[in-house]
Amino acid sequence: MDHQLLAGKKGIIFGALDDQSIAWHVAEKCHQAGAAFTLTNAPVALRFGKIQELAEKTGSELIPADATSMDDLKELLSRSMDVLGGQIDFVLHSIGMSLNVRKKRGYTDINHDWMLKTFDISAISFHKLMQTAYHLDAMAEGGSIVALTYIAAQRVFPDYNEMAESKALLESFARSFGYHYGVKKGVRVNTVSQSPTWTTAGSGVKGFKEFYDYADQMSPLGNADAGECADYCVALFSDLTRKVTMQNLFHDGGFSSMGINPALMGMDGDDG
Ligand SMILES: NC(=O)c1ccc[n+]([C@@H]2O[C@H](COP(=O)([O-])OP(=O)(O)OC[C@H]3O[C@@H](n4cnc5c(N)ncnc54)[C@H](O)[C@@H]3O)[C@@H](O)[C@H]2O)c1
Repeated sequence: MDHQLLAGKKGIIFGALDDQSIAWHVAEKCHQAGAAFTLTNAPVALRFGKIQELAEKTGSELIPADATSMDDLKELLSRSMDVLGGQIDFVLHSIGMSLNVRKKRGYTDINHDWMLKTFDISAISFHKLMQTAYHLDAMAEGGSIVALTYIAAQRVFPDYNEMAESKALLESFARSFGYHYGVKKGVRVNTVSQSPTWTTAGSGVKGFKEFYDYADQMSPLGNADAGECADYCVALFSDLTRKVTMQNLFHDGGFSSMGINPALMGMDGDDG
């Protein structure tokens, strides 16, 4: 797409691991749209992922940060302002990891210490990030902060496990912090609830292929892919969405509004 919607804007993008990551696509689209940004991920992901490639491609500085560490977040925000030459206009939080999913513990047999760690990585990190930015006055007036979420926060997807509660918490932080940041600096805070997408985090969920296919067939527009999600994030970072805040925005081809889709039952769904 040929536009410069983010010309002159400065950002921070969390969570690009490899070229399947949603954050990777967001970084590429932000770069095409004229933004300058820093890239960040957990130190371990910097060792094993391919993010260095993305940094070179987009001319971005790579700053390691564990998103659960307030010290790392402080360093990341300060360094990003130095590198980019001023306050930050947009931030993408694209972080999710469940220890119980990874270690194949079912929902009725959860290890609660791991659950707390999951909440810390996948949700509380969002509050930590915003609180750090708030106290450092790191966001520019009218800036935009977006976190990625999934509809399991509202509906039951049994294999999504404790990530469902992580996403509910994440979405609640967006609303509550969105109030405080709106009053203080006109900063927007939203979550984008994305279709199932083929990535490292996504495909780690048991039965992912089945619920990917189900969602694709249920949605009148089909699943949204990572590139389309990135386009939506660019719109939310831009000045075209200045009064959108404290929302959970479904980016899912219509899935969230469906009851049944006749096509899934082999029936003709066309009314015409
Ligand atoms: N893939 C899907 O189906 C889907 C659907 C809806 C929402 N989402 C959400 O999109 C976001 C991005 O996930 P993705 O699908 O692109 O997968 P991904 O695995 O590419 O991205 C997850 C990222 O989280 C990072 N991370 C984990 N622990 C961290 C820590 N302590 N500090 C900093 N970073 C850490 C990982 O290194 C990785 O880069 C997640 O919030 C995920 O829940 C994904």
